[in-house]
Amino acid sequence: MAQPFLIYGANGFVGRVIAHRAVEQGLQPVVAGRNAAAIQSLGETLDVERRVFDLADPDEVDRGLAGMPVVLHCAGPFIHTYKAIAEGCLRRGAHYLDLTGEIPVYSALAEWDAPAKQRGVMLLPGAGFDVVPSDCLAVHLKERLPSATYLALAFHSRGPGGIPPGTARTSIENLQYPTRVRRGGELIAAPDPGKTRLVDFGYGLRRAGLISWGDIFMAYHSTGIPNIENYIVLPARMVRMLALFSRVRPIFKYEQVRKLALPFVPSGSTPEQRAQTTTHLWGEATDNRGNRVAARLHGPEAGVDWTTLAALAVVKRVLAGDFQPGFQTPGRVYGADFALEAPGVAREELA
Ligand SMILES: NC(=O)c1ccc[n+]([C@@H]2O[C@H](COP(=O)([O-])OP(=O)(O)OC[C@H]3O[C@@H](n4cnc5c(N)ncnc54)[C@H](OP(=O)(O)O)[C@@H]3O)[C@@H](O)[C@H]2O)c1
Repeated sequence: MAQPFLIYGANGFVGRVIAHRAVEQGLQPVVAGRNAAAIQSLGETLDVERRVFDLADPDEVDRGLAGMPVVLHCAGPFIHTYKAIAEGCLRRGAHYLDLTGEIPVYSALAEWDAPAKQRGVMLLPGAGFDVVPSDCLAVHLKERLPSATYLALAFHSRGPGGIPPGTARTSIENLQYPTRVRRGGELIAAPDPGKTRLVDFGYGLRRAGLISWGDIFMAYHSTGIPNIENYIVLPARMVRMLALFSRVRPIFKYEQVRKLALPFVPSGSTPEQRAQTTTHLWGEATDNRGNRVAARLHGPEAGVDWTTLAALAVVKRVLAGDFQPGFQTPGRVYGADFALEAPGVAREELA
């Protein structure tokens, strides 16, 4: 019989899809969250155990996590929620997985490497699209060019499937921070936040702009490559807007200002829209002697479908006893080819 695992935030847009897919795949999710009515209704629909608790009281969190070997935390923005769940996991000896792409969360969890190792607990944030495929691509490029000193990773979403509502809310939360890159092993504000480059994902060149994606933190932990940049393909007017945005960024430090953007959060894509959407990643590693390697990954819609495939693949590994205690990255624990285990994902080597 399958072992249970807990999905916290299971009533969210992405958590709900993950819970449904988990049941379809024969897993035994326990659905949890703070919204009693939504969790009860989801639990009834799926005929699975449900637990209702919020994150304010550690005793309540401990009761909520009792008996769970693995927690997949889906309630973001994670900057407000990771601490309560990760601390509960450390107290309870449960492995912690989440869907965050938030660098302050990665950074805080990395600080808990030693206590996690002591308790035999794995802390693996970024178990969704951000960062499983790109982290595996980074590890792959590093294996092909062990002397790599620079890594660029870019992605492009093609089709009508927009970003999930929680991703939009998290992006609004992050407007206050400057675009960052990794230079000489350090995370720094990008000297040229409006930088763009042309990327060939296999269907003609696309212009991609700099973004603070999770890889600038995680790929460094996976590969040790000291200079890392992330890029995203956006419509040209959005790239220009983001470049200008750096001038007004300071006002987004104020919560009241960020709240003004919340009415623009999308309600989320439909399964039909996602079925018409594909996602493409491209990565390049170079070294100081002029060597260069590059590869692409192609897969399904990112925010929900690829995220669900990646997160459940990690859950299955951990439930099977395949984990490493401490702060971990997916590419480091499971290797470059882990991304290829998800149905519909293919890697393409470039000369
Ligand atoms: N890694 C990736 O590639 C990837 C992909 C997709 C999504 N994400 C991230 O996953 C998160 C969820 O996205 P979504 O679209 O599913 O968001 P959503 O629909 O807004 O759902 C958020 C969930 O989190 C819960 N929640 C929020 N704040 C909470 C708090 N303080 N305490 C307890 N529960 C809280 C909500 O509970 P209530 O219903 O009670 O408010 C809800 O269950 C976002 O942070 C998003 O950025 C990451």
